[in-house]
Amino acid sequence: MIYLDNAATTSPKPEIVIKEVNNALRKYSANPGRGGHTPSIQAARAVYQTRMLAKELFHAAAQENVIFTSGCTQSLNTVIKGVLKPGDHVVISSMEHNAVVRPLYRLKQKGLIDYSTADVIIGDDDATLNAFRKAINAKTRMIICTHASNVFGTRLPVERICALAHSYGILFCLDAAQSAGFLDIDIAENGYDFVCCPGHKGLYGPTGIGLLLIHSNQLLDTLTEGGTGSDSVNPVMPDYYPDRLESGTLNIPGICGLGAGIRFIDRYGIEKLRRHEYRLMKMLYQGLQSVKNIRLYTDEPDILHSVPVISFNIDEVESEKVAAYLNNKGIAVRAGLHCAPSAHRMMGTLDSGTVRIAPSVFTNEKDIQILMIALKKFSYFS
Ligand code: ALA
Repeated sequence: MIYLDNAATTSPKPEIVIKEVNNALRKYSANPGRGGHTPSIQAARAVYQTRMLAKELFHAAAQENVIFTSGCTQSLNTVIKGVLKPGDHVVISSMEHNAVVRPLYRLKQKGLIDYSTADVIIGDDDATLNAFRKAINAKTRMIICTHASNVFGTRLPVERICALAHSYGILFCLDAAQSAGFLDIDIAENGYDFVCCPGHKGLYGPTGIGLLLIHSNQLLDTLTEGGTGSDSVNPVMPDYYPDRLESGTLNIPGICGLGAGIRFIDRYGIEKLRRHEYRLMKMLYQGLQSVKNIRLYTDEPDILHSVPVISFNIDEVESEKVAAYLNNKGIAVRAGLHCAPSAHRMMGTLDSGTVRIAPSVFTNEKDIQILMIALKKFSYFS
């Protein structure tokens, strides 16, 4: 199978990730921080190593500022429900995923908060920034913004939006679902208050593990409460990180696999991995332009403005039909709404959805050539 659905999760995983998950199940089947015995200490050490790798990759202030979650969705929910108080207002972009929109919508339905959406003006960062500025009001407590659209690959000017938020004394939360491990994210330099990441996409870890990186001094309210192995006599959750936000036994195989994923990125260098994917994206973009009746929704790939995700449709054909055809030809892509209806509404593709292609570092030129042959054949006969 040629796998081109890496925006959903990267596949295959690097061999060192597979080995490390296996190794963790064999060597670290003990509960870190819950015992003084050697296996527990070894497991705690393995967790610490991944925390340090994540701290370094994102330039977090300290390893305590790195929280392990079950994924980007849990990280975002932790921030949204941990920060917001009744009466607060939030600004989001028009390209947000349901992992942002649904928790906010629920809080709004309960009459607790309100939120506004700032339109992303593709190709005009000044206009996008202006839309965010206009959406801010006296009650705005936080801006939440995706680094790049999971549907169209469009990069948002998040450094500038973060600076705008801070100039109004507003918190900034970065959804790095499509950028972590692919774009440079420097928390120390940019001052993002919260960065939410999946472990299983650009960081090449297994599913079921994610990161929340905290830069803000704000003490988040807890989403879940339980045992932490620390201050156990106290019925109140610790007021220090990471314990406050990590109740229950951690996902040790996931954490170790994520650590191996980060080591994989470090070994090759993020820049080199990125260059490979951009080269393929350019090839893909040029190829797609010669497909009959194609409607491309993504501009020509370039590092300053996009991540390696391309969306298109062929004439009036349903996107799912194209994806099913490709699947029969041994090519995996995702069609439909990609859990991001707002982005589709903005692009006018809410009814049709789009076909999305997302290569990874394991994709090669031959894969793209085979995809192009299949698409040309499909468009010729449709
Ligand atoms: N959010 C993931 C995607 O874009 C699952 O497909």
